[in-house]
Amino acid sequence: MQSAQSSDRSEDSIPRIAAERVAARPIIGNSWSLRQALKQVEIVAPTDATVLVLGETGTGKELIARAIHDASGRSRRPFIKINCAAIPSSLLESELFGHERGAFTGAVAQRIGRFELADGGTVFLDEVGEIPLELQPKLLRVLQEHEFERLGGTRTLKVDVRVVAATNRDLRGMVGTQRFRDDLYYRLNVFPIALPPLRERPEDIEALVHHFVHQFARRMNRHIDVIPSDTLEALRRHPWPGNVRELENVIQRAVILSTDARLTLPPCRVEPAPQSPPKEPETLKGVERAFIARVVEEANWVIGGPRGAAARLGLKRTTLHSLMKRLGLSRPLDAGGAEFDAPRSYHRPGQMYDENWAAG
Ligand SMILES: Nc1ncnc2c1ncn2[C@@H]1O[C@H](COP(=O)(O)OP(=O)(O)OP(=O)(O)O)[C@@H](O)[C@H]1O
Ligand SMILES: [Mg+2]
Repeated sequence: MQSAQSSDRSEDSIPRIAAERVAARPIIGNSWSLRQALKQVEIVAPTDATVLVLGETGTGKELIARAIHDASGRSRRPFIKINCAAIPSSLLESELFGHERGAFTGAVAQRIGRFELADGGTVFLDEVGEIPLELQPKLLRVLQEHEFERLGGTRTLKVDVRVVAATNRDLRGMVGTQRFRDDLYYRLNVFPIALPPLRERPEDIEALVHHFVHQFARRMNRHIDVIPSDTLEALRRHPWPGNVRELENVIQRAVILSTDARLTLPPCRVEPAPQSPPKEPETLKGVERAFIARVVEEANWVIGGPRGAAARLGLKRTTLHSLMKRLGLSRPLDAGGAEFDAPRSYHRPGQMYDENWAAG
């Protein structure tokens, strides 16, 4: 596990941000790429710059956002998180900026929005790629001018808020396809911090395993102090599509399953790797199919409605249905269904974590 103390500021040292967080929410790992990210956190935290945290699902984006807040001069003020993917788009504006009584049907009382609540502190805009296009200018204004009006209100409110945003989406690509405003993208992208996926830093796995074993064993009142080397080796070789969160869950299960002081991994289930889709030929139909598949997937397989794929493509719902039928596109069984499901990561790994530990 990582040492809490480090006065050495050399290239190999653990950045102070990581070391100081041991007591609170520790950031474990000593790989070069994680250290680079933490050094950036250290540089940017004391400034008021907007930070965009990028990375696949489960790489620690929220952990980093909190670290930025905690290491900033705003640490005693609120850290307000808002998950833009979890709130229906019709409610998001009121959630962010509040509303006046009577602003819309059902607005029986005035409501303070998250930006107002966070005054003096930090707003963490999680899944920022999900902010609907029509709300993006208002977000841009609060980032640039620090001002906004409550929904249905006329008074302009000023706030002192630092914004940290996170996404696992390709925001630049979304700008290219006009699903994200370029001015907002550039305003958010002032200081990007990219978190490396776990498979690119297997050297962090051992420390993470020790950390999670210790954490869960303590919570469950277990005593586990042997982690067999072949177990560690299997964990190190695994591709971890769900990154640190997936590793955390596997270790939690392992701690539950361990009946003595040795860590026992969940039994391996041999599942065939999902077949990768046949490569589309470079035909017009192939390009069309790939494009539509991407948009539909980004809409979480929701076809109709204002955030559905049909609206994004500027097509009628029925037209998109017949087009998908013609192109042979149908929803996979494991696709998210609800309109407000968290988006799926753009990384599509070929293996699942419990596929076969030993095979790696
Ligand atoms: N370096 C790390 N050290 C310790 N715990 C970590 C580390 N990275 C991630 N975690 C833990 O893994 C889990 C997932 O992290 P987090 O929620 O920050 O990821 P995320 O990138 O925001 O994921 P998502 O995109 O799915 O929202 C959390 O429980 C977090 O505490
Ligand atoms: Mg997150």
